[in-house]
Amino acid sequence: MKKNRILILFAVILMVPSVMLGADAAAGRNVYNMKCSSCHGANGAPTASMAKRFGVKPMNEHSVQSKSDAALKAAILNGYGKMKKVPVSNGDANNLVSYLRTLS
Ligand code: HEC
Repeated sequence: MKKNRILILFAVILMVPSVMLGADAAAGRNVYNMKCSSCHGANGAPTASMAKRFGVKPMNEHSVQSKSDAALKAAILNGYGKMKKVPVSNGDANNLVSYLRTLS
């Protein structure tokens, strides 16, 4: 009995972060199409010229997807290398990260 309760408690704790973040990939996709696709291309595939001139990598590349959610979010909110920070809300940044994960 007691063991079951502990297991349930663990399950709830594991579920909390995603619920708290409330990240929404579909909403992230909308923001991406408005604010990111001009450089990163539709579905995260940059045009050949963006890739060549600015070193923009496809979002599905391992070197991008292997980064943590926090690192991807920081790239959006603080800028990354040649990319300037993009003005989006904290919630939108979480949604964007969720969307980027769907491109893996
Ligand atoms: C004006 C062009 C431009 C816009 C708009 C832009 N980016 Fe970028 N982004 C870049 C460039 C250029 C790089 C590569 C920077 C480098 O490697 O020096 C980059 C890199 C990144 C990276 C790091 C990828 C890696 O190589 O690990 C992420 C994540 C990212 N962008 C997400 C976004 C998101 C999400 C948006 C929209 C909110 C966005 N970017 C808007 C130009 C842009």
